[in-house]
Amino acid sequence: MPAQTHAPTQTAELPAELTVVVPCYKEAANVAPMVARLEAALRGIAWEVVFVDDDSPDGTAARVREIAARDPRVRGLRRIGRRGLASAVTEGVLSSSAAYVAVIDGDLQHDETILPAMLAAVREGAEVAIGSRHAEGGEAGTGFSAARAKVSDAGTRLAAMLLPTPVGDPMSGFFLMPRALFEFLAPKLSARGFKILLDLLLSAGRPLRVAEIPYRFRPRQAGESKLDATVLLEFLGLLMDKALGGWLPWRFVSFAAVGAIGVVVHLAALFLAVQIPGIRFEAAQWTATFVAMTVNFLLNNRITYRDLRLRGARLARGLVIFYIGCGIGAAANVGVAGLLLREGLAGWGLAGAAGALLTVVWNYAVSSTLVWRG
Ligand code: GDD
Ligand code: MN
Repeated sequence: MPAQTHAPTQTAELPAELTVVVPCYKEAANVAPMVARLEAALRGIAWEVVFVDDDSPDGTAARVREIAARDPRVRGLRRIGRRGLASAVTEGVLSSSAAYVAVIDGDLQHDETILPAMLAAVREGAEVAIGSRHAEGGEAGTGFSAARAKVSDAGTRLAAMLLPTPVGDPMSGFFLMPRALFEFLAPKLSARGFKILLDLLLSAGRPLRVAEIPYRFRPRQAGESKLDATVLLEFLGLLMDKALGGWLPWRFVSFAAVGAIGVVVHLAALFLAVQIPGIRFEAAQWTATFVAMTVNFLLNNRITYRDLRLRGARLARGLVIFYIGCGIGAAANVGVAGLLLREGLAGWGLAGAAGALLTVVWNYAVSSTLVWRG
């Protein structure tokens, strides 16, 4: 890569009218090319760019700083101990004072040359301009594998069921809108997972005036995609959150679902443990409990609290607190169910369900306050 100079031009002296927000995780090699491309694409527009980096180990933030030190249009936002594309985008936008904000991936897969057309569309009255792979003239290109394209299509169809108005590419991470509108919607966002545009469209409570500008999704040149199975789960969580009108937090639903998996794990572990020759039932039960709690803890760390994921020493500390908290939860479960049964207030089914509900709420409270702390 040749050395690139980003000599500020006259427009840099003006306050930016467009802030380009670039979420990035492990995109060090793409930072300088991104700035050069924005510079070429946005001539005549007073712009700035904010790279929002989640403390990437590859030195992304340092690359941003090097360029920012000589170009006032470039800013960096570095978050420590946090992960998440949607929340990174939100915080980048909230750091802007420009009239318009654009969001573009930091891996050069989105075509920055359509940014002026997107800006023009919003100036002419659209509330959000979407860089679209599915609009006339757009193309998903070779940026996705066939399997990934299938998943993306299924997601688009699922999203369409909730959207108040048809949108060709609601899964796009490439869009531009008035900053004030984003700011107005920000408190309503789930801000989880990858799909911030879909979140915005579903949070407005009315159809937004959308303009779709076609572009060709490029293959990734450097680095790798961060989309994995957990991101897909988060996507389902986002849709569910919106479908339920946000009254049951998705984190709680996720926690309860993991708990249900835990019950299955418990029974399976118990089944195996009782096969051990000479083992007492209590010992088998304890073994199964520990296996289930550990599996629950790890699943919650990966899924429910992905954005606050614990590692190393904090993982060990969290696990100990989780064991203690869930132990108390289990005792309360048995106690409450027993009490209801003894007092004749409920049959064993209802008593068991009440005990289980109490335990889930208790464990969730312990987890959200003492184990995974924001
Ligand atoms: N700050 C931050 N934190 N950035 C992140 C994180 C994170 O946890 N995860 C991903 N990113 C950044 C990546 O560095 C990249 O710049 C951008 O978000 C998109 O991530 P990719 O991993 O490259 O995603 P993709 O190529 O599979 O999908 C993207 O493009 C699709 C097509 O427009 C996403 O933006 C999708 O939302 C979008 O639909
Ligand atoms: Mn990508």
